[in-house]
Amino acid sequence: MNRYTDQVVLVTGGARGLGAAMAERFAAEGAIVAIGDVNEAAAGELADRLAAEFGRACPAHRVDVTSSADVGEWVDAVVRAHGRIDVLVNNAGIIRDNRIEDIDDADWHAVLDASLTGAFYCTRNVLPHMRSRGYGRIVSFSSMSWRGNFGQANYVAAKAGIVGLTRTIALETARQGITANAIAPGLIDTPMLASMNTAARDKLIAKVPQRKTGQPRDIAEAAAYLCSPAAGYVSGVVLDVDGGLGIGSSIR
Ligand SMILES: NC(=O)c1ccc[n+]([C@@H]2O[C@H](COP(=O)([O-])OP(=O)(O)OC[C@H]3O[C@@H](n4cnc5c(N)ncnc54)[C@H](O)[C@@H]3O)[C@@H](O)[C@H]2O)c1
Repeated sequence: MNRYTDQVVLVTGGARGLGAAMAERFAAEGAIVAIGDVNEAAAGELADRLAAEFGRACPAHRVDVTSSADVGEWVDAVVRAHGRIDVLVNNAGIIRDNRIEDIDDADWHAVLDASLTGAFYCTRNVLPHMRSRGYGRIVSFSSMSWRGNFGQANYVAAKAGIVGLTRTIALETARQGITANAIAPGLIDTPMLASMNTAARDKLIAKVPQRKTGQPRDIAEAAAYLCSPAAGYVSGVVLDVDGGLGIGSSIR
């Protein structure tokens, strides 16, 4: 399919993991993908690979989404170079797991800032450009954890915040051709999942009705639908992509 021909797509945290899989999917369907990541080297390598594979320049920028200034400069640079922004994917996020009493101030703020504040800064900066053209798609990354998860109070607060932010963006943009949705992945094979405590990860996998982790391409497929022109009447939803984990108890 070529749903993204000539569209300009911004992906935060696009250097690896889910962000990289989505960047590749959008580029494969004709998009110019702007990759923003704190990991400049990995973002640059991916941009070079996408350019070689799809014959289209995909600009990589060093962007820390927790910095309002970084985000503002990134969005301005992309609009100056390409004249438009069709899609924003708020994907950047980190984990710093601990029980509530053991989460220090730095780990609380780091997790909230990377996921939630970053999504807010990026959305605030792209919206004027989307509104002026009467078109836009925003997808932000929540998590199956948003409903509550042991040892993840900071992450849960950030990912539940993404749900509220998404629903509010959907309301505030509903008559300007813009949609906002969230994806709540379950356990997907990425460096972030690999960094989790192995025992906790194995216990969680045992609870997935499909009894397996998902692959980054599963997320890329969901994002490629929600961000497409065809999904124009879908806004404010949280799409679980989790092998059934969010359904509830799976005894058998
Ligand atoms: N992998 C999973 O199982 C899973 C499950 C639920 C939700 N998620 C969410 O999906 C998103 C992507 O997860 P992933 O597994 O690919 O993670 P990952 O750690 O593999 O990749 C995250 C990317 O974000 C970048 N990043 C981190 N902080 C940043 C910042 N301040 N500014 C810019 N870039 C930054 C990193 O450099 C990295 O390239 C995250 O929001 C995560 O919370 C992942």
